[in-house]
Amino acid sequence: MNKNMKIIVVEDKIQLGRTTSQMILDFINSKPIPVLGLATGSTPESTYQFLVEDYQKNHTDWSHVISFNLDEYLGLTMDDKQSYRYFMNYKLFNHININKDNTFIPLSICDVESFANQYDQMILEKGGIDLQLLGIGENGHIGFNEPPADFESLTSIVDLVPSTIKANSRFFATIDQVPVKAISMGIKSILNAKKIILIANGENKAQAIKQLVDGKIDSTWPCTALRMHNDVIVIIDKKAASLLK
Ligand code: PGA
Repeated sequence: MNKNMKIIVVEDKIQLGRTTSQMILDFINSKPIPVLGLATGSTPESTYQFLVEDYQKNHTDWSHVISFNLDEYLGLTMDDKQSYRYFMNYKLFNHININKDNTFIPLSICDVESFANQYDQMILEKGGIDLQLLGIGENGHIGFNEPPADFESLTSIVDLVPSTIKANSRFFATIDQVPVKAISMGIKSILNAKKIILIANGENKAQAIKQLVDGKIDSTWPCTALRMHNDVIVIIDKKAASLLK
């Protein structure tokens, strides 16, 4: 195991959300201008729910926070219910006092190529991501960096592999509606973050977590690139941890 990787095993998805949201709150309270990297999908939902509950109870100030999201499906407008902009607004941003002008999500309808080329520069201009929240795919993808992943990649247009399209079809009425392309921060963009928290729950993530923690660095498991980073916290439930030594 990589000594720079800290593993925290929690009981279930609720505890995962509680633990992760507390780390995010401690982080945003500790910096004058925190730059957060955010993720979508089912895994971070409980984290965002706890952050919203915290805001309702404690009014934690988000007005100074800047955020960058990892990815967006190609071709969906911002008000499309399947877009990641919609997800972030609906699950988190609409319920806290973050300035939406400071929330960045890759734009997927415009000149996407040139937008992709600018995204890493935009992050850099805000000082770089201090804390990146990541989910993980069953195939070990991080962001939409599918295997085999280019560990030198920056933000770009990517093709989704059939297993990801199938996994994500649960959010759509039919599998044909799932976009087959996305714009995603690259592996190198992710590794540029100063600190990374990767979260996972459920048995279907156990193999990817085993590769991440115990496997060798290998582009067929994109998550293993994180072993080259010097500050990664992996927070997982017991099921996702079930194959670890
Ligand atoms: P999930 O997706 O949280 O919906 O499982 C994670 C991912 O694919 O990165």
